Amino acid sequence: MDLAAELGELTLVRVARALFSADLGGSARGIGGALTTTMGLIERLRSPLSLLPWTGAMRDYRRSKAELEGMVGRIVETRRRSGEDHGDLLSLLLLTTEEETGEPGMTDAQVRDETMTIMLAGHETTASALAWSFHLLAAHPAAERVLHAELDAALTGDAVPGFADLGRLPYTRQVFTEAMRLYPPAWVLLRRTTAPVEIAGWKLPTDTTCALSPYVTHRDPRWFPEPERFLPERWTEEERASRPKWAYLPFGGGPRSCAGESFAWMEGILVLATLARRWKFAPPPSSPPPMPLAAVTRRPRHGMPMRLPARCAPALKTGGAALSPRPPHSETNWEILQAVTGLNCEL
Ligand code: HEM
Repeated sequence: MDLAAELGELTLVRVARALFSADLGGSARGIGGALTTTMGLIERLRSPLSLLPWTGAMRDYRRSKAELEGMVGRIVETRRRSGEDHGDLLSLLLLTTEEETGEPGMTDAQVRDETMTIMLAGHETTASALAWSFHLLAAHPAAERVLHAELDAALTGDAVPGFADLGRLPYTRQVFTEAMRLYPPAWVLLRRTTAPVEIAGWKLPTDTTCALSPYVTHRDPRWFPEPERFLPERWTEEERASRPKWAYLPFGGGPRSCAGESFAWMEGILVLATLARRWKFAPPPSSPPPMPLAAVTRRPRHGMPMRLPARCAPALKTGGAALSPRPPHSETNWEILQAVTGLNCEL
């Protein structure tokens, strides 16, 4: 299977559930495709000719954007009319009111755009971090063994791990942290200066665009000796405390930092625990190593082919069911989705 595509659908379903309590079910792939095409436009900035209005890329972009706006817009309209509080993020956005007038704080178009931003920001990032986590585990059997030992000791019974289990999964957190060090999903962050400023001897005038790269910072040997090595052990409490705060910044920083960071940690650790407990992850023999794409996120360029032999965790009555191989980008792998749909992720 293409693990990256499956994880993309999974994270989209999760973010949709947090946003509008909606089960996207079979539409996840269509929406995921539309989101990817929309993001693809940014990737094409490197080749500006493909941005001319009559090119296929622009037509695809406009069609996907209209599809997404239509779908999300309809959900927003229906909700606004019903006026009900569903206790999800969309209700939070819709029910915000101006303090003085009591009028709605946001127009429907604003709510729709905020919703689309959260879907874009919250889906491919987590999927990419998880895909690289499984790739690194497959390549480092010793780390995988430590992870399995933790999961087998910390998780009991057939229940899907939830919020209450997070504190019992320190090594799982370390694996996810180290994977985002090596493959930070948002690998370039942009800032614009609003006043002249001097940084490390460089004088930058107002209106200068600056690019910061967590991908580069995370490989600084001053903070991460042997930076190319995958070592979850770098993330014990003591090791973490010995480094400067900004040596690690997968979620950015300052007033524009990631709005979904807590959600992402919870989702990442729990999906990792749920899947690694039931299955091992192994690339098909002789498949070339996945290459990171220098796109909006650092997702694998040609997906991530993976076999998932079941493992028999002691506490699981049935063990993980072996997953039948499917052609890449085929139907959603419902077995994986079912294993994680019970995840207790709340913002
Ligand atoms: C591993 C997963 C994730 C990573 C690595 C990540 C990383 C980032 C980064 C680096 C930024 C830009 C920060 C900056 O420029 O300083 C950002 C922005 C944002 N993220 Fe995330 N993110 C993740 C998951 C999520 C999730 C799950 C959600 C929502 C459910 C989310 C919602 C947002 C939003 C709304 C923004 C824009 C904030 C603004 O412009 O004010 N992210 N994220």
